[in-house]
Amino acid sequence: MTRQDANSAWAKDRAHVLHPYTDFSSFKDEGSQVITGAEGMYVTDSDGNRLLDAIAGLWCVNIGHGRREMADAISDQVMKMQYYNPFGHSTNEPAAELGAWLATHAPGDLNHVYYTTGGSTANDAAIRLVHYYFTMKGQHQKKKIISRNSAYHGATYVAAELTGIHATKMSFDKVGEHFINHVSAANMYAKPDDMSEDAYCDFLVQEFEDRIEQLGPDNVAAFIAEPVMGAGGVLVAPKGYHRRMWEVCKRHDMLYIADEVVTAFGRLGHWFASEEVFDYQPDILVAAKGITSGYIPLGATLISDEIYEVISRPQCEGGVFSMGLTYFGHPVACRAALTNIEIIQREGLLGHARNMGKHFQETATGLCDLEHVGDVRGHGLMLAVDLMADKTTKTPFPVTAQAGANVFRTCAELGVIVRPVGDRIVLSPPLVIEKAESNQIYSVLRQAISGLSAG
Ligand SMILES: Cc1ncc(COP(=O)(O)O)c(C=O)c1O
Repeated sequence: MTRQDANSAWAKDRAHVLHPYTDFSSFKDEGSQVITGAEGMYVTDSDGNRLLDAIAGLWCVNIGHGRREMADAISDQVMKMQYYNPFGHSTNEPAAELGAWLATHAPGDLNHVYYTTGGSTANDAAIRLVHYYFTMKGQHQKKKIISRNSAYHGATYVAAELTGIHATKMSFDKVGEHFINHVSAANMYAKPDDMSEDAYCDFLVQEFEDRIEQLGPDNVAAFIAEPVMGAGGVLVAPKGYHRRMWEVCKRHDMLYIADEVVTAFGRLGHWFASEEVFDYQPDILVAAKGITSGYIPLGATLISDEIYEVISRPQCEGGVFSMGLTYFGHPVACRAALTNIEIIQREGLLGHARNMGKHFQETATGLCDLEHVGDVRGHGLMLAVDLMADKTTKTPFPVTAQAGANVFRTCAELGVIVRPVGDRIVLSPPLVIEKAESNQIYSVLRQAISGLSAG
């Protein structure tokens, strides 16, 4: 891209593009960084800077950037059959192949897939399916959903309501208050220091039970949770938490929705994390992001045989399952997913992610000796560093200190992209990361954090 083209893109974008999660007061002056190239673990900006992508785009570029094989598969599918109406009894080969692959590899009897365009739409679909399921069973009151504070489930209306990062919803209307509830996040860093991990888990499970009692078990339809909370701060639950929450769901005839938008397709070293890592069998599993490694948008809501059996009954004589998106099972997206899966398999990226995940987590603990690192935690190739003005008292930096933003800027100047979520630095590199790159990320991060002052 020439300098002139980059300047033109910058100006057009600043004038016309409504960016997600953007501070428009600075955007109107500064505009956006234009990314012009991407290859392997690196992206290049319009100034020619080559930056190590320690966040895999946005938790998604699992196989790394710029794969020729992905481009070829996408282009082949475009020339073969790029799109046709998926409604009713019409399908395409990649959507069918991917459906069969998902059914074989997803935990238990999650044998049926509803395709969407991303994570938010897949979570919206999950909630519609839960409601429809209980309606079809004649349990018309059983519609309430329990989510968790600090959860991130997306930005469409219902997904945003499920989201428990409440500050992100300030000044937006609430459409789900009558049926969506939030319980505490499983946040080991926030637990009282004198409380054991087991006692904390007991507390969270009891709170959940109490909430169900309060709402009335006949009114509560489902619980939704990420196996490891992502955007909410890479919060790893206490040991046994998910299994116990799942058991509570089963006791109350509730469905467990695993939002695996981030954790599926290798981030924790497995195709799916809920069963293999956390030992529970969701009734609904939501995937997106890593399913195509971000080469093209796709989401998937997987449901159990039992749910399928109920929702596939006709709702009335001649009634149809009247829910669908134009781009349901998009052949190009599904082909991209199949090729992405083939690459993960052929290159052994799940095993690699497990090995590298250990190294990544172990190296990160080295940051704990820094004055302003309050906590370092994670699982596999997901990690967060909490920045604190005073770590002994867990006192945060004042907002005006912009600690997270400053660390992000310094890291970028030193050639590494990290993600600041407030004063928390989040990392989620492509699964193809090697030790040298992992070491580079932490050496840069150490330098950037060391430069912070208590402000
Ligand atoms: C756990 C989780 N669920 C859902 C979403 C929403 O996905 P999308 O942005 O593709 O709509 C995200 C996005 O980051 C996520 O992390």
